[in-house]
Amino acid sequence: MSPSDPRLPFSPESSPDGAGARERIPLAEPDLRGRELEYVTDCVRSGWISSIGPWVDRFERELAQYVGVRRALTTANGTVALHLALAALGIGPGDEVIVPALTFAATANAVLYCGATPVLVDVREEDWGLDPRLVAEAVTPRTRALLPVHLYGHPCDLEPLLALARRHDLAVVEDAAEALGALYDGRPAGSFGDISCFSFYGNKLITTGEGGACLTSRADLAERMALLRDHGMNKARRYWHDELGFNYRMTSLQAAVGVAQLERIEELVAARRRNAAAYRERLADLPVGFPPESARVRSTFWMFNLLLGSEPRWERDAVMRQLAAAGVDSRPVFYPLPEMPLYARYVRPGQEFPVASRLGARGLSLPSATTLRPAEIDRVAAAVRSALGRVP
Ligand SMILES: Cc1ncc(COP(=O)(O)O)c(C=O)c1O
Repeated sequence: MSPSDPRLPFSPESSPDGAGARERIPLAEPDLRGRELEYVTDCVRSGWISSIGPWVDRFERELAQYVGVRRALTTANGTVALHLALAALGIGPGDEVIVPALTFAATANAVLYCGATPVLVDVREEDWGLDPRLVAEAVTPRTRALLPVHLYGHPCDLEPLLALARRHDLAVVEDAAEALGALYDGRPAGSFGDISCFSFYGNKLITTGEGGACLTSRADLAERMALLRDHGMNKARRYWHDELGFNYRMTSLQAAVGVAQLERIEELVAARRRNAAAYRERLADLPVGFPPESARVRSTFWMFNLLLGSEPRWERDAVMRQLAAAGVDSRPVFYPLPEMPLYARYVRPGQEFPVASRLGARGLSLPSATTLRPAEIDRVAAAVRSALGRVP
C-alpha cells in the first residue's frame, strides 16, 4: 500500500481522538465517532450479523428517506450496485451506455460486466461531469442508458441530461458513489435518475467499511434488483431459480455502522465543506485552480482537488512526492479512461477528451477527511506552498 493510497486502515496513530500531532496526514480516513460501536455491539449480542434483520431494514429505510426516494437496496459495495442497476434495466450485449471519460474505473466496468459497450464522453470544466452537448452527439440507436457521475462530490448538470434521456427514451443511472449529501437545485443527488448508486467504502462521506446501495422510486426496478441481488431466487418458491442472479447483499454489521454514520451526515458534509473553505483561503494567492461549485449545487467536496496551472509548469507527480516527504498524503485525480489501454478500445475514431486529459494530468487530491484538525490544514497548506516553491 503506497503512502498516497487513500485506502488506508484506521490506525491508532491516526485516531482523530488520539493526542498529539500526526507524523503523516492521511488523504482519507473513516470518522467513527458516533454510535457505530454501540450499534455493531447490538448486532453481535442479538445475533443479527448476516444480511437479514432489523439493521439492514433500518439502514435502507433511512437512506431512502434521506435521499428522498421510495426504496433503497443495500449492496456489498458500490461497484456491484452499479452492476445490479444495469442488470435490472436489462442492459446487455449490443447495448451502449454513455459514461464520462473521467471517473473511477468501476463506472465503465459495470457496463462491461453486462457485456455492453461503454461510450466515453468528455467532461465539462464547470462541474467535472458529463458534458450534455457531447452526450447529445454520442447518442446512437444502440444507446440504452446514461451513466452520469457526480465526481468528487459535485453533482453533474442533470437537467439537460434528463431532458436528453427523455427525448431518446434512455434510462438514467446516477453514479452517486462519491456524492451522498450533495444537492442539485436543492434536491439530493441520487434522487433524479431511474436508479442511483452509492458507495460506502472507507474513504467515502459515510462508510460501512465496504458497502453500497441502489436507490429508486420505481417499484418495478426495486423488485427486479431485490430478485437479482438474492440469486434470482423465486419469491414464492424458495430455492427455485428462474434466472441467473447474484449474491450482492450487505451484512447487518455493515448496515449498523451505516445507520450510525447517517445520523451524522449533515455534520460530515459541513466538515468537508469547512475543509474546502479553509484550503481555498490559505491557498488563494497561488496560481492554482480549485474544485468548482456551480450555482445550482451544494458540493460535498468529498475530495478537495488542486489543479496545477500550466504556468509555471509544475510537474504534478513531483509536487506529490514533495508533499509525501513533508508527511502529507495526496493522490492524482483519476486517470482519464481513454488513456488506459483497457478502455482506449472504446474511443470512437477522431474522438478527443481535452478536459478530462487536462484535469487528469494536472489535478491532485489533498487530505480531505472530516477528522482533519485546523492545524493539519495549516500544515498541508504550508507543504503545498513549499512544494510549489512559495515561501510558506
Ligand atoms: C465514481 C465511483 N463509482 C463507483 C465506485 C465503486 O464503489 P466501491 O469502491 O464501493 O465498489 C467508486 C468508488 O470507489 C467511485 O468513486
